[in-house]
Amino acid sequence: MALRLMDEAPDFTAETTEGTIRFHEWLGDNWGILFSHPADYTPVCTTELGYMANIAHEFAKRNVKVLAISVDPLDSHRGWIGDINETQNANVSYPLIADPDQEVAQLYDMIHPNANDKMTVRSVFVIGPDKKIKLMLTYPASTGRNFDEILRVVDSLQLTANHKLATPVNWTSGEDCIIVPAVTDEEADQTYSDIRRVKPYLRYVKQPQD
Ligand code: BEZ
Repeated sequence: MALRLMDEAPDFTAETTEGTIRFHEWLGDNWGILFSHPADYTPVCTTELGYMANIAHEFAKRNVKVLAISVDPLDSHRGWIGDINETQNANVSYPLIADPDQEVAQLYDMIHPNANDKMTVRSVFVIGPDKKIKLMLTYPASTGRNFDEILRVVDSLQLTANHKLATPVNWTSGEDCIIVPAVTDEEADQTYSDIRRVKPYLRYVKQPQD
């Protein structure tokens, strides 16, 4: 059955450019991002992996471990990473899974035969410290992803995991948040000192600092 939000992220053992990884054990208490690429030595993927390497410190700051996957073997990955580093002014140091038998790709439903039965689509999974899937995205091969958007979602997920808040359209960290409908006005008044009430169901507060 297809994976859904809040399902447990399937565990696996895989060979990567940084050695063998047992996924859940490797994640530990961290958040994780698992993202797939159609194939090695493809142009859009080259830009994506390079960009991800250049913002990897932003994921690390948020306790998010980064893991990439494509269906090509390890020796191919190693040669391709050389090209990525050279052309994208990057230093790819996060692991890239070699999945020539498509074991992980099948587990995460990353092969879409209507698109291509040999390649993975551009999937993104964000996984919480509880090993549950918090976000799933699927992009076609021809469209490179926006990894700044993934960072933005991580900020929202980490905030809303700890507070009864949601984040409005195009929110970025530091902007006002919305009190979730399940919180009564009485409870809201006990929790927040400065509520901006636009409608009874649309109540803004400053982003908590913790
Ligand atoms: C790419 O990564 O550049 C790509 C891969 C498959 C189809 C189209 C583009």
